[in-house]
Amino acid sequence: MIRLDGKVAIVTGATRSIGEYIARGLHGAGASVMVTGIEDAAGAAVAASLGARATYRRTDVTRDADIEACLAETKRRFGKLDILVNCACSYLDAGLATPRQDWLDCLNVNIVGPAIFVQKAAPYLTKPGGVVVNIGSVSGKFGNGTRGPYSAGKAALMHFTRCAAVALAPDGIRVVTVSPGWTWSPPMEEMTGDDRDLADRAGAHVIPLGRVGRMEEVANIVAFAASDEASWLNGCDLAADGGFSALGPDQGKGPKYWVAESR
Ligand SMILES: NC(=O)c1ccc[n+]([C@@H]2O[C@H](COP(=O)([O-])OP(=O)(O)OC[C@H]3O[C@@H](n4cnc5c(N)ncnc54)[C@H](O)[C@@H]3O)[C@@H](O)[C@H]2O)c1
Repeated sequence: MIRLDGKVAIVTGATRSIGEYIARGLHGAGASVMVTGIEDAAGAAVAASLGARATYRRTDVTRDADIEACLAETKRRFGKLDILVNCACSYLDAGLATPRQDWLDCLNVNIVGPAIFVQKAAPYLTKPGGVVVNIGSVSGKFGNGTRGPYSAGKAALMHFTRCAAVALAPDGIRVVTVSPGWTWSPPMEEMTGDDRDLADRAGAHVIPLGRVGRMEEVANIVAFAASDEASWLNGCDLAADGGFSALGPDQGKGPKYWVAESR
């Protein structure tokens, strides 16, 4: 069991979905959690359901003043900051047809917001021992003909992780990415008409473990990455994807299979 007793965490985009599960996972491991996001009613409900050691604060990651106020409030309320999880994301993306303003808006949430949060959190993070976990995606690792800014932003976030890890290492602050693959979550519920079996059957084509992931499985990996047990992890990516990113474009089947398929 990963324990985070006495730690203080901020989770962005924690009002629902994977971010909510990450907040619940860190809290369940003993951390105090600042639940943040832009959906106030949902965020307040998440914090209330956690009870002690949790509070909600509206924090739009595209607004510097929100980020600064969140950090100050975390310090005031919980006394310090040990863990920052950058989970908020925008799916605003029309592939090659994405207009400029949508590119800017999507990247503002998916890479600029997290980068500014790290910049402003660095003076607050415990030294040594502070941790930043940026939530990446398999979308940042592979080409996808239907996507532009979302995938490019995730790739940028993963590379920013390496830069920040090197920059903050002298202070004993670690920075890593946890990159989920296809995860049973509200976006996937919408895509499948809330059909979990369909999601698993679809996932089985491309995920060696034969199903889509669960949000708590992603949250468990984030909790581990944020814990002192992961003290030697820095600047790397943890693939929370059931083996999706271990497959090459041949889906792990090799040329004999594809030659047979093509006869
Ligand atoms: N769902 C998946 O299968 C999957 C796969 C790979 C990676 N991910 C990653 O996991 C994370 C969570 O994804 P999800 O699918 O749960 O997404 P989601 O859309 O359900 O949740 C995103 C959260 O970010 C919040 N948000 C949006 N704009 C914001 C802003 N400006 N400031 C603060 N919060 C903002 C939303 O309100 C929401 O709470 C994201 O980083 C995403 O890229 C998800």
